[in-house]
Amino acid sequence: MAVRQVLRMGNARLLQRSEPVGDFGSAWLCALLEDMRDTMQALDGVGLAAPQIGVNLRVVIFCVPPPQQDQDRQNSRYPDAETVPETVLVNPVITPLDDKTDQAWEGCLSIPGLRGLVPRFQNIRYRGYDENGALIDRTASGFHARVVQHECDHLDGMLYPARIRDLTQFGYTEELFPERDARNGGVS
Ligand code: NI
Repeated sequence: MAVRQVLRMGNARLLQRSEPVGDFGSAWLCALLEDMRDTMQALDGVGLAAPQIGVNLRVVIFCVPPPQQDQDRQNSRYPDAETVPETVLVNPVITPLDDKTDQAWEGCLSIPGLRGLVPRFQNIRYRGYDENGALIDRTASGFHARVVQHECDHLDGMLYPARIRDLTQFGYTEELFPERDARNGGVS
């Protein structure tokens, strides 16, 4: 299908609350997901939310493939990230499992070249549907939980800088990590 243009921070459409999807299994939803996958892969992201390509619907995708299983899709931006199964999540709901939070570096395809230290819940349950309406119900922790929280924030018009507690921990990747080859934590 197509690699779509990703909206960047400052575009008012990224700040809107997205609408639930009603019709599962439709051709347009499959086409949307194909474009989202193409776009995420082309930009070497680990996740993408529909509003980032200008579609105001509650749809996210994320995937962190294991490098040894698929070298073409090895995620060079986040080579040390744990494996997260490729997931389409429609109309997601996140429930924290406890009060534990931690902070880690995140990036976003809508905020290219920057990173910030962002607090997130460590342990969550997330529920939603795949493109055909089959229920997805998982628990997740660590990086997996972080990716889900980051992507779902996009559906409520929230970008990660709004969650940063200490803005000295927000900046250009190359300045923050001059010796680390810009590969530190992060999301999409
Ligand atoms: Ni993002």
